[in-house]
Amino acid sequence: MSSLSWFSHRLVPWYREHRRALPWRETRDPYRIWLSEVILQQTRVDQGLAYWQRFVAKWPTVADLAAAREDEVLKQWQGLGYYSRARNLLGAARQVMAEHGGAFPTTHAGLLTLKGVGDYTAAAIASISFGAPEAVVDGNVYRVLARVFGIDTPIDSTAGRKRFKELATRLVDPEHPGDHNQAVMELGATVCTPRNPTCLLCPVQPKCIAFASGRIADLPVKQGTARTRDRFFNYLHVRRDGNLYLRQRTGKDIWQGLFELPLIESEHPLTGPAFAPLLEERLGPGWTVEAHSKEAKHVLSHQVIHACFWTVVPPPGFTPPDDWSLMDPDRHAVPRLIERWLAHTPTSARP
Ligand code: ADE
Repeated sequence: MSSLSWFSHRLVPWYREHRRALPWRETRDPYRIWLSEVILQQTRVDQGLAYWQRFVAKWPTVADLAAAREDEVLKQWQGLGYYSRARNLLGAARQVMAEHGGAFPTTHAGLLTLKGVGDYTAAAIASISFGAPEAVVDGNVYRVLARVFGIDTPIDSTAGRKRFKELATRLVDPEHPGDHNQAVMELGATVCTPRNPTCLLCPVQPKCIAFASGRIADLPVKQGTARTRDRFFNYLHVRRDGNLYLRQRTGKDIWQGLFELPLIESEHPLTGPAFAPLLEERLGPGWTVEAHSKEAKHVLSHQVIHACFWTVVPPPGFTPPDDWSLMDPDRHAVPRLIERWLAHTPTSARP
């Protein structure tokens, strides 16, 4: 028995008794487990559950998902953000069908060849579906290990990533790797939370170095996050017979492939008098600016989007740019920011 086996021996029974009942814990189907892990990289369990259920209801098998259209998958993903994950889901499902005869690869190395599957997801699927002794390391795992073992190496440093991965690997219980990994994540999600952890309910509290030394609030250590960039989006709400002009985002920027209102990005927030000349410069003369919304702020991992929705009337005989189309926004995947604006601007108010 390794000197670290106490960790799993305390955690796995705790997990089996206290885990949240979740449908992907009732199966070893790698497709369903993969879906859950990809969704849970984007959101918490309470919100992710509904997404998982809708995906599984619409596409019960990997073959069904592989046959889906990309816009359908993006639509199901809408609201989770980071849409390349949704594109990769579809890409990986098609790889499983085309390159693996419809069966998921069973090894960590095989799983890594699938689009969007990195070390975390490969280890999760390999351990939970196939019983491989692979360690999963996510934000919850970093926090639990940093506290229990009193490690202050920054979790966002190269040295930190290596150290935590090595420790996590030594801790994995080879008898129950799937439950072991889920136990550590579950402890981080429900007990060893970032703020106000419930240490009195924790099965490893008697061994926890941070608890014993009063350092719970100081661990884990982060090196410091990259500065975020502010961007100013001016969306054009062009009045046109009850429909909306939308365009598809292209290029290497956020929200690639999603639909949005025509956009003019500016260096600074714009006031009414400053907006009209910019509109004229981009789209020609003769526009009327009727109204604008309050600023809507949308926080992404490295950017803060400050959006303003401008209701504008084009000049008579206006010909829209080639990439604008009159569309029903409810039938296309749009960023959450646009979705919220639409919810407050019913069709009746969009003459
Ligand atoms: N977070 C992401 N995946 C998880 C899992 N399988 N169990 C608990 N928390 C998780």
